[in-house]
Amino acid sequence: MIFDLDGVLVHTDELHYQAWSAIAERLGIAFTRRDNDRLRGVSRADSLEIVLSLGMTEVSAVEKEVLADEKNAIYRQLLDRLTPRDVAPDVLATLDELQGRGLRLAIGSSSRNAKVILDRIGLRDRFDAISDGENITRSKPDPEVFLRAAQFLALTPGRCAVVEDARAGVDAALAGGFSCFGIGDAAEHPRVTWRLEKLSEMLEHLTDR
Ligand code: BG6
Ligand code: MG
Repeated sequence: MIFDLDGVLVHTDELHYQAWSAIAERLGIAFTRRDNDRLRGVSRADSLEIVLSLGMTEVSAVEKEVLADEKNAIYRQLLDRLTPRDVAPDVLATLDELQGRGLRLAIGSSSRNAKVILDRIGLRDRFDAISDGENITRSKPDPEVFLRAAQFLALTPGRCAVVEDARAGVDAALAGGFSCFGIGDAAEHPRVTWRLEKLSEMLEHLTDR
């Protein structure tokens, strides 16, 4: 089972929103939670392009680097407050049950902060493999991050499933030949394999597979 991290295992999507809001406000760009949904699963650099396009704002390549670094500095400060208590009981129970059933677990996240987050919330040791923003060259909706995760697990995509909250993540999973659980925004994706209201509902779909 390959889990996206932000917005699936822990609600860092809200922290991304707060950090991008601070940058957008400084640039005089209106930025809503709905706008933030478009950044789900998208790399930091591509997210900045989306924020700038919302304000039809153009800045130099150097300024883009500065802005992306500033966003990350704000975000990292917010991450410092994360603790294992930020993982919902339903998430922990689901991971316990999957491991109890002998499934191997991986992370498939676009984030370069994934390992820091996993350490802060105390989940790093739960995963047999971590594929994240540090080992990919193309962001979701490209399937690279999930294909690498499957490779790390030494499994074909057909033997894995992905869990996502991002529409771009569902596209990435399907493009890679994975079936995909969608939660939150991703449950609205017309081609997602299974729709979840909460993570533990996935367990019902595993019995006949
Ligand atoms: C994804 C998030 O997991 O990681 C995106 O859904 C984020 O919103 C992307 O832009 C990159 O994250 P980071 O931590 O490398 O800036
Ligand atoms: Mg996500």
